[in-house]
Amino acid sequence: MSSLALMRWLEAAPERYDAGMRLLTLGRAARAHAFVAAAAARRDAQVLEIGCGTGALTERLVAGGAQVTAVDQNPEMLERARARLAEVGVLDRVELVERTAAESDALPAASRDAVVASFALSEMSRDERRHLLRAARRVLRPGGVLVLADEVVPPPGLWRALHCGLRAPQALLGWLLVGAVSRPLSNLPAELVEAGFRVRARQRWLLGGLEACVAVPVEGGGASGG
Ligand SMILES: C[S@@+](CC[C@H](N)C(=O)[O-])C[C@H]1O[C@@H](n2cnc3c(N)ncnc32)[C@H](O)[C@@H]1O
Repeated sequence: MSSLALMRWLEAAPERYDAGMRLLTLGRAARAHAFVAAAAARRDAQVLEIGCGTGALTERLVAGGAQVTAVDQNPEMLERARARLAEVGVLDRVELVERTAAESDALPAASRDAVVASFALSEMSRDERRHLLRAARRVLRPGGVLVLADEVVPPPGLWRALHCGLRAPQALLGWLLVGAVSRPLSNLPAELVEAGFRVRARQRWLLGGLEACVAVPVEGGGASGG
């Protein structure tokens, strides 16, 4: 996986984003998308997607039968997603909304069967993620699922050591390119538990550097606040 900086550089020109993602994840982004869509999409499920980017996951969700509200803060990415979904003739099953994840509060409670995000949480601060996970819990209907895939810190071992060794050059690259550094998630399952979810399934790729989690709300669980 690349640094957040590299991601942002790719996002700055959405036409190179998809090819860049394929390259950077050695094709595993597509597997993560397939995993998320399989866990979240079913016929007429109402799905909220956070950080839809160019719509690669959105397209898979719709193919699985879902109606999707796809949110992104970047209008250029949304335009790219709109073009992609129009091209495959499924725009009528998707609402594309320019909005930040934090604004998910505006959605009605218990209005979605699934909330999903791929490669978006690692671009957020810890506070933004906490806020988003609480909002996700609120908008999920009973029986709903939260499905996330993202760049994570690999488990202890050789690959983590290598990963740590690469942090300094990555940080420098980030600083040079966009004045930012990458933030692979250090413990996604723990963040989910803290927000009041139970992790039902996990999958890892790229020697543990890419992880997907399927989580369900725990009755009465989660930190205080709404
Ligand atoms: C790395 S891209 C991933 C795009 C897509 N989900 C995928 O898997 O290819 C991250 C996307 O999340 C969006 N994003 C990042 N932080 C966000 C936030 N706080 N609110 C809304 N969108 C956000 C970015 O604009 C970008 O389009």
